[in-house]
Amino acid sequence: MPRIFSGIQPSGELHIGNYLGAVRNWVQLQHEVESFICVVDYHAITLPYAPEDLRRRTFEMGLSLMAAGIDPAKCTLFVQSRVPEHTELAWIFNTITPLGELERQTQFKDKASRQESVAAGLLNYPVLQAADILLYKADTVPVGEDQVQHLELSREIARRWNARFGDGFFPEPQPRLTPTRRIMGLDGQAKMSKSLGNTVGLLEKPDDMWAKLRPAVTDPARVRREDPGNPEICNIYHLHKAFSPPATVDEVATKCRTAGWGCIDCKKVLFENLNAELTPIRARAEALQADPRLVTDALDAGAAHAGTIAKGTMAEVRQRMGLR
Ligand code: AMP
Ligand code: TRP
Repeated sequence: MPRIFSGIQPSGELHIGNYLGAVRNWVQLQHEVESFICVVDYHAITLPYAPEDLRRRTFEMGLSLMAAGIDPAKCTLFVQSRVPEHTELAWIFNTITPLGELERQTQFKDKASRQESVAAGLLNYPVLQAADILLYKADTVPVGEDQVQHLELSREIARRWNARFGDGFFPEPQPRLTPTRRIMGLDGQAKMSKSLGNTVGLLEKPDDMWAKLRPAVTDPARVRREDPGNPEICNIYHLHKAFSPPATVDEVATKCRTAGWGCIDCKKVLFENLNAELTPIRARAEALQADPRLVTDALDAGAAHAGTIAKGTMAEVRQRMGLR
């Protein structure tokens, strides 16, 4: 039976990028395979932050995940820092991870270039990610495309540890991508990301969503209403693929190529379909906000279950490595 593990930073907001790239996939997979979903607060502290903010955002991410359909009865949902074995295994993996591999990670280079002073933890971020996954011996990791390089490194770490201390002990975890593995921001410039400020939040009010969608970048060739476009290069078309039924997706492509619809017409249809999927999610979020114990209890239970497995793995790891 495969076991999946995935993580998400407590960025305070689920947006349609991480929803389509990862979370929607988790919601489906939890019914099929044993699933662990972790809010990774130890990862979040590799960049400057305020403690009270982090606490709030961690809770909000738990709430948003449950609203999006993660069911704590089906899947182990927990907060990383509640299971300190993550950091213990990360330290151990640090001792076998080649420095050069860490320096080559594009996410590290990206984030480091935007910092005045770079913490060692930012460099070692993917080592902690490998520890997250391997602590549960998970073999499948549903993520967006931006995590593929980190997972290559996780496999390298598993291989190196296995070669020294126990052949076949850790699986080599494989990414599991969705067709919507990379959602662009509405500015059409870069991937949708909280840090770039180009997101559409999953729990945003419909009016606010429309205010972002309306001016969103489309095929630049469509200057006037009657200019035909190429849907393949239009971000809105790709969002239709994620939210609209197949017949609508075909219609969008035709109406774009023939200028049958203007971009605003096309966005209105997308907005309707987006709302159809998000309305029940917003309603669940409101119910959870009214009764936050549902979230804290679920996170407590998740941490207890994850902790049991983590302790078992660490006992074996210490044994094989001559520790204690
Ligand atoms: P993050 O919110 O950055 O912690 O990412 C959580 C998950 O969502 C990871 O699996 C990412 O790969 C995925 N993800 C984040 N942003 C996007 C995006 N714009 N398109 C597709 N997947 C994404
Ligand atoms: N680095 C991932 C991100 O930014 C989050 C993450 C941490 C993760 N640990 C993980 C993803 C383990 C998958 C598996 O999105």
